[in-house]
Amino acid sequence: MIEYIKNNFDYPLIGAEVGVGLGNHAQQIVDNLNLEKLYLIDHWQEYKEGALLIKTYAGKKDFIAEKFVSYDFVEIIELASLEAAKLFQDNYLDFIYIDSS
Ligand SMILES: C[S@@+](CC[C@H](N)C(=O)[O-])C[C@H]1O[C@@H](n2cnc3c(N)ncnc32)[C@H](O)[C@@H]1O
Repeated sequence: MIEYIKNNFDYPLIGAEVGVGLGNHAQQIVDNLNLEKLYLIDHWQEYKEGALLIKTYAGKKDFIAEKFVSYDFVEIIELASLEAAKLFQDNYLDFIYIDSS
């Protein structure tokens, strides 16, 4: 995804990642794309993947806030995806990377 965006859009982009976890992919986004604004959206709570209860990312919002503190174009939104979606008008975002349930 990053490569495609990089090769096809050269203006400063407004984007979002939904399902940030520990921020590995978000780091790739900030390192590689020309960004006006990046929303990092996650509830950072336990969640289910099929029968599995995933606890790895619960409570990690402060870790992410620290990790991206130097990027003034990054905004962290600690909400479930469907709640966060209500904050954005149609066609506001140039791209969304979704890696959540
Ligand atoms: C596999 S991790 C994301 C990994 C990250 N994209 C990366 O590549 O570094 C999945 C994340 O989705 C989040 N998540 C799961 N369901 C969610 C939901 N309904 N709303 C918001 N975040 C959710 C979890 O809290 C977890 O941090």
